[in-house]
Amino acid sequence: MSRRPFIAGNWKMHGNRASIAELLTALAQARFHAEMIDIAVFPPFVYLDQALAALGQTTIAVGAQTVCREEQGAFTGEVAASQLHDVGCRYVLIGHSERRQFFGETDAIVVKKCQRALGAGLVPVVCVGETLQEREQQQTEAVVARQIDAVLNAITDITALNRLVIAYEPVWAIGTGLTATPEQANDIHAFLRTRVAKIAKNCAEKLKILYGGSVKADNIALLLAQPDVDGGLVGGASLSAPEFLKIIDIVSHCATTPEMSTNAH
Ligand code: PGA
Repeated sequence: MSRRPFIAGNWKMHGNRASIAELLTALAQARFHAEMIDIAVFPPFVYLDQALAALGQTTIAVGAQTVCREEQGAFTGEVAASQLHDVGCRYVLIGHSERRQFFGETDAIVVKKCQRALGAGLVPVVCVGETLQEREQQQTEAVVARQIDAVLNAITDITALNRLVIAYEPVWAIGTGLTATPEQANDIHAFLRTRVAKIAKNCAEKLKILYGGSVKADNIALLLAQPDVDGGLVGGASLSAPEFLKIIDIVSHCATTPEMSTNAH
């Protein structure tokens, strides 16, 4: 695996000040091969500052779970990309399936959010993925192609494209305990990379594509052993410090000793 692995923890709408403080303390005190792995956590907006303060001296970055599609102004309740950047966020999740499903986020909205994020100096982690019904109807490639092409067609600047991270999250695997098999994940990752390569071969080789959907300590090694899987977007398992740190430990070991990646478990 030539790309440095990236483990991202999506905390969704979980936690409170006390539980998040506990999680952050454990992360801030953890020891891992920092040079071998990129790590980021995505707390709810109201705890971003708390996370940034607690992780400020560490190599763990902080990101937001969504962002406003507009640049600034009278948009009550929204948060601008420039504001996220201003407080110290490095990343932002865009187009998570829960946003698409429950908050009407369309491909067009995802594109606008992506442009705002890039414009503000954030790294967008663009999420794509098919529902169970779409997979059963053999629509997986068509769906993720539509989702990613919308973004790729809108980002014409190669420097911007170079900053993009993609997360493939089959909707049927999110929070269900069902995981795509490593091969199923890799097939779609490779397909997505080919899509990017059509526009910019160099970007495609460097592009990090994370897998998300019930990632845990006991399945991350086999997922990461796949050539096109560059890390994980971890939901439920990122809320437990021991589990998340175990994932980080496994991934940093896979990165140091690639031969371990297939037999770590
Ligand atoms: P999960 O969530 O790990 O709990 O399945 C992943 C995600 O939604 O990003």
